Amino acid sequence: CKALCQTQDMLLLLLLLAVGSPLVMDPNSICRKTKRLAGKQAELCQTEPEIVSEVAKGARLGVRECQFQFRFRRWNCTIHNKYFGKILQQDIRETAFVYAITAAGVTHAVTQGCSMGELLQCGCHSSSRDPGGRGPGPAQRLGVGGCGDDVEFGYEKSKQFMDPKRKKGRSDIRTLIDLQNNEAGRLAVKNYMKVECKCHGLSGSCTLKTCWSKMPHFREVGDRLLDRFNGAFKVMGGNDGKTLLPVGHNIKPPDKMDLVYSLNSPDFCLPNRKTGSVGTGGRSCNSTAMDVSGCDLLCCGRGFRDETVVFEENCLCRFHWCCVVQCKTCTVRRELSLCL
Ligand SMILES: *[C@@H]1O[C@H](CO)[C@@H](O)[C@H](O)[C@H]1NC(C)=O
Ligand SMILES: *[C@@H]1O[C@H](CO)[C@@H](O)[C@H](O)[C@H]1NC(C)=O
Repeated sequence: CKALCQTQDMLLLLLLLAVGSPLVMDPNSICRKTKRLAGKQAELCQTEPEIVSEVAKGARLGVRECQFQFRFRRWNCTIHNKYFGKILQQDIRETAFVYAITAAGVTHAVTQGCSMGELLQCGCHSSSRDPGGRGPGPAQRLGVGGCGDDVEFGYEKSKQFMDPKRKKGRSDIRTLIDLQNNEAGRLAVKNYMKVECKCHGLSGSCTLKTCWSKMPHFREVGDRLLDRFNGAFKVMGGNDGKTLLPVGHNIKPPDKMDLVYSLNSPDFCLPNRKTGSVGTGGRSCNSTAMDVSGCDLLCCGRGFRDETVVFEENCLCRFHWCCVVQCKTCTVRRELSLCL
């Protein structure tokens, strides 16, 4: 833990706490574990523990999405304690994605917490007929409108909680990279807000229309960040200690929504404690696919074996009025290809 615990950001701890156990969502235990870390996070623990619960939910949301997006890849975002810690310590593309998706998850979850009325500090963002103010807009007061998502609040809290402290003057490149990736994650939520409207009036005549903003579905956020992962920029620190420069000639500098990294990833083919690679032995692959999920790429050319796996599944489910779903248990056989 030494090296990690000394880093400013408590991301790893938070992730492990939030994802490792479905039960630990208690802000006190998160805050206790992070006592050694001074700064903004400690402050938030003291003053706004209820936000910390939402932050933990957000980290979990982020890692689940990471696992979904990377389910067919060699590195599949497994939270395998020691190995995951190693990943977070490096400046590779995968780390960039983890930081971004976590910051996005926190933005999303805190904002959601506001909309659901779980937080006192924030609430529904008022509808467009009442721009500016917080709290229920006229639509909500009348009970006819939707609840607008106050993404600014979630954005700020995510920033406050997740961003490492910027050192005065020069910053180390790692800090700059983490800041950039966190911001890219938050913007993948904030810059894609949608407007939803509802018509009121006699038989939908729309004499009165209320509109409110809605966050994108988190799956969309994950999809966008995966695109950014695929187009991530390799960077190095500029001389001023404040900027990141793309490596290579004539490459446009990354914009705020791009993911950045400074080290090439290992190939993740074989287990390696040093790089945090779990290896792909035993992973199931698709023998007909030509993309990253195909056996050739996933198994790194080592080959695969076919195996029939038998497992039980709910099936023939029936809905009984009201409101029970009854299922039978079926035994399912599936042919799987597993990497050697
Ligand atoms: C991810 O990889 C690990 C290690 O190879 C494996 O145990 C796990 O089942 C994989 N997860 C998914 C969703 O494929
Ligand atoms: C395997 O890959 C093929 C071709 O890309 C695809 O059509 C098929 O659905 C995949 N199978 C599974 C189980 O994902």
